[in-house]
Amino acid sequence: MSKQLILALSKGRILEETLPLLADAGITPAEDLSKSRKLLFDTNLPDVKLVIIRATDVPTYVQLGAADVGIAGKDVLLEHGAEGLYEPLDLEIARCKLMTAGVTGQLPAHARRRVATKFVNVARRYYAEQGIQAEVIKLYGAMELAPLMNLADEIVDIVDTGNTLRANGMEPRELIAHISTRLVVNKAAMTMKHDRIKPLLARLESAVRKRQTQLAE
Ligand code: ATP
Ligand code: PRP
Repeated sequence: MSKQLILALSKGRILEETLPLLADAGITPAEDLSKSRKLLFDTNLPDVKLVIIRATDVPTYVQLGAADVGIAGKDVLLEHGAEGLYEPLDLEIARCKLMTAGVTGQLPAHARRRVATKFVNVARRYYAEQGIQAEVIKLYGAMELAPLMNLADEIVDIVDTGNTLRANGMEPRELIAHISTRLVVNKAAMTMKHDRIKPLLARLESAVRKRQTQLAE
């Protein structure tokens, strides 16, 4: 296994909050990510590279060893499954909740509940645990539209302020999980590249602590 360290970062919302933590841990991209169409980036450290990919692809890259370390939301990790991954660090960014939600005041009428979500595995697990029969409908976005269009009785989605739900006449119902961004490591890389990964973890852990202290001040 090469001694190069590949970090897979989720593009979008998480990236903006990840970069300051990485910088604090001594890793900065060699060029401005926002000004480039590239997907694989050099860093200030010759043996550390970054790949910037869709959040949902991060666990796949790390599980299969194409990247050694990944940064992704717990929602994405719950949906993907934890096989082949260690999850040693909570970066405590992009905090939100994974919840069920439905049209305000309108309780699900169907005995078999129709649930629209992009988190199909999480939803199937959750409703089975609750003993509720559910038909899970896979959507790729705009879940809030599904109950309004009578495509579904409920949705399973990310809730932060609740503004998106409210704007669409919906209300949050049950909490499925508290979500934040996690660092994951390929299990084989954790052994083979321990001398590289351990100090990176320690530096990131102290960057997270420093950020939490600053936020509390
Ligand atoms: P993609 O664009 O690849 O489909 P996405 O739209 O889910 O992914 P983002 O919106 O960038 O990607 O969200 C990335 C992660 O940020 C999510 O996986 C979740 O952990 C977290 N997140 C999503 N929405 C919010 C929110 N409103 N507030 C805080 N954290 C959020
Ligand atoms: C996310 C999520 C919800 C919304 C929740 O969407 O999918 O729709 O945030 O946040 P709120 O409770 O504060 O309104 P995002 O804004 O990332 O857009 P997306 O649908 O493109 O992912």
